[in-house]
Amino acid sequence: EVWNPSGKHRVVSTKPMPGTRWIRLLTEQDCRVEARHLWIIFSSPLFAQICTEKKTILSVDDILSLIGDRCDGVIGQLTEDWGEVLFSALKRAGGTAFSNMAVGYNNVDVNAASKYGVAVGNTPGVLTETTAELAASLSLAAARRIAEADQFMRAGLYDGWLPNLFVGNLLKGQTVGVIGAGRIGSAYARMMVEAYGQFLKANGEQPVTWKRAATMEDVLREADVISLHPILDKTTYHLINKERLAIMKKEAILVNASRGPVIDEAALVEHLKVNPMFRVGLDVFEVLFSAWDAKFYEASESNLPMLIICCRQDEPFMKPGLAEQKNAVVVPHIASASKWTREGMATLAALNVLVYLFQKCKLMLYIM
Ligand code: DGY
Repeated sequence: EVWNPSGKHRVVSTKPMPGTRWIRLLTEQDCRVEARHLWIIFSSPLFAQICTEKKTILSVDDILSLIGDRCDGVIGQLTEDWGEVLFSALKRAGGTAFSNMAVGYNNVDVNAASKYGVAVGNTPGVLTETTAELAASLSLAAARRIAEADQFMRAGLYDGWLPNLFVGNLLKGQTVGVIGAGRIGSAYARMMVEAYGQFLKANGEQPVTWKRAATMEDVLREADVISLHPILDKTTYHLINKERLAIMKKEAILVNASRGPVIDEAALVEHLKVNPMFRVGLDVFEVLFSAWDAKFYEASESNLPMLIICCRQDEPFMKPGLAEQKNAVVVPHIASASKWTREGMATLAALNVLVYLFQKCKLMLYIM
């Protein structure tokens, strides 16, 4: 789709984004806006005809063709590998801005961007509560075996109330641990404290207290529910591995709404197999990212260790064996998927491009 075709500045979004505000913002500033669906053409032996299908994950080559010969700015997605090749192409096309529609930017080589003079933006803030809410939902869903019970109902297996049917854990009175207490992790902690704090207070029970743990191992050992919220970089890659899973309580609940590779998923599958009372709630998966070799970049100037990992369309999204584990609740990376948040992310992504194209910092502050 193209909006304002005669616009002076060409801005490409590698995916159509929700809402229209982001389009209005760009077109009002004389941008020609293009949002692309890529289509794969394949021939179907079954029907002996040519079929087309929308491509979800774009390769570097796909994006090169979107950038073309002239492009001032790109809005891209967390599933794309924004490294040397794309930033040099964007520079050659006259581009100065790349905006990642995500708070996470583990898919962006910021060193390469600076080398080619391309400014990089992300979309923090608007997804804090939405992501925290999903982590809280996964905590409850895992504790109360919601997904398993839902499948049971749909399979027509419910025959009437039974004392032992889908008995799970009560979160009240349990210890909740947060690993990565940044914006989202802290919002998750506040939600849990508020919800249970009010409840306990009303019953005249001990209020909820919280403390900063001395080590991550303390959290893993002590907590009944652990929610992961770190950024993904080379220090957090496989942060939860076989050894760390082993020190967690046998009936613990582990939630991940950050990035898949924070957990060694193969080790997790083995752990779930031998510990049926251990439960997980996962929004993100390792295979999505690790289908390409993990590439580590040290960002020398900013001192940020970057891990650039991307995905390939034809890979399954869960490690073998995970889908069969009844003690796992799995959802397809929907932590930020509320209408308000996704439209907010699209708006921020567009504003980032404008800020870099025109240095209109005042415009950003005014709208937010
Ligand atoms: C992000 O913005 O990094 C989230 O993972 C998207 O849901």
